[in-house]
Amino acid sequence: MSPHPSSAADVRQAEFHFRCIECGNVFQTASQNFRCASCGDLLEINYPAWKKSGPNPETLKATWLKRRISTCAADLSGVWRFREVLPSLENYEQVITLREGNTPLYELTQSARITGMKHLLAKHQGMNPTGSFKDTGMTVAATFARQAGFHWVGCASTGNTSASMAAYAARGGVRSLVLVPEGKISWSKLSQALDYGAVTCQLRTDFDGCLRLLQELVLRAPVYQLNSINPFRLEGQKTLAIEMMEQLGWKPPDHIIVPGGNLGNSSAIGKALIEMRELGLISRLPKLSVIQAEGANALVRTLREGGGKRLIPVQAETRATAIRIGNPASWKKAVHVLQETGGTCEEVSEVEIAQAKVEIGAEGIGCEPASAVTLAGLKKLVKQGFVQREETVVLVLTGNLLKDPDFTIAFHRGELFSEEEDGEAKRALAKLRRPPMVLDATLDAVVGALERAEGS
Ligand code: F0G
Repeated sequence: MSPHPSSAADVRQAEFHFRCIECGNVFQTASQNFRCASCGDLLEINYPAWKKSGPNPETLKATWLKRRISTCAADLSGVWRFREVLPSLENYEQVITLREGNTPLYELTQSARITGMKHLLAKHQGMNPTGSFKDTGMTVAATFARQAGFHWVGCASTGNTSASMAAYAARGGVRSLVLVPEGKISWSKLSQALDYGAVTCQLRTDFDGCLRLLQELVLRAPVYQLNSINPFRLEGQKTLAIEMMEQLGWKPPDHIIVPGGNLGNSSAIGKALIEMRELGLISRLPKLSVIQAEGANALVRTLREGGGKRLIPVQAETRATAIRIGNPASWKKAVHVLQETGGTCEEVSEVEIAQAKVEIGAEGIGCEPASAVTLAGLKKLVKQGFVQREETVVLVLTGNLLKDPDFTIAFHRGELFSEEEDGEAKRALAKLRRPPMVLDATLDAVVGALERAEGS
């Protein structure tokens, strides 16, 4: 293998294998459905050489920093820049990249005040090329799909995975098959999949039904599955946490708060934190907490009622359609990282989600409803005393505001909730609404609108 132009000579690339999270069996290759050949549970990617001697943390930090001024494609990616902690490739010129990652860490001053926190930060993964955190995982998994010689990739999705997969497949010259629940994903996300040329099937079922079907399909047809069951996805998504630590000068925050759906992202972030501590990149673990919608609270119930030992699936229902998932595939991985980091899991109502979304929007940042659960959840964790006011908290905003304009417009028009639903919260919500006005095209009408707004 010829060394990559910007690889530091003394930083080795990561050799990896697959390890079953339940029985611990180790495999050099994975089957089409990415499940353990012995017990059927999920696989994760491990780097056995790190046990003997991991890469030097200071060399890693310096190498990653140096790549920020490089112009080669793998270095311009906010994922492949960290390739020493990712599965190794023969040739880094082969990566399928849209310059994913490199997302901003914003200070949320108004939301900090609302929650009573001194500081509050948001890592905005909605600033990725297709508008969600999925891109960081997709660049890795799509690259390995093409390297394995697949002509088709496929996923089940609540919308963002399919948008991302379709884009990376298109960039890589691979065809893509999308399975989405009919009528249950936003038009913006569906339109992305169509624009990027995916074969798109709207199935008469929910997300969980789509995923079940995909898992069967990949055993019958040569389709490479790109859901977060695929451990390459999680390796890419890990870099969110690495980039965050770099942005914080390698000083870990006290808490990281992330939305939970199929639970791949929380598992990936937790894995990154644990590995970073193992490698000496950080000295302690932040507490990683997961927030779910009340109507899609399988992890909350699994921890409260099942002691984290058995999954309690639910029939999912929430307007935050990205996390409308009742049978999360990565629940065991998520339970493990919550326990390991000392984090918790909380649920929030539909009204709380809508309110938090407007508050994040009012900072000039915006996000999709599923991302807003983080701020809504933080309010609860502060009240419970789990988060202290002077602690550092990073909210992970997973999707861009433009992903679900219907939700935003319905909220501001007062059409999102029924009378009973927003009963108690009515006054608080009414103050936040800014419905668009239809006016005569006269100066008086516009000045009148300005004056009414000034007084409100
Ligand atoms: N936030 C957004 C915007 C999402 O799209 C998703 C998941 C999540 C949070 C939850 O992440 O599943 O890793 O726990 N969306 C998937 C999809 C399921 O198909 O787009 P998770």
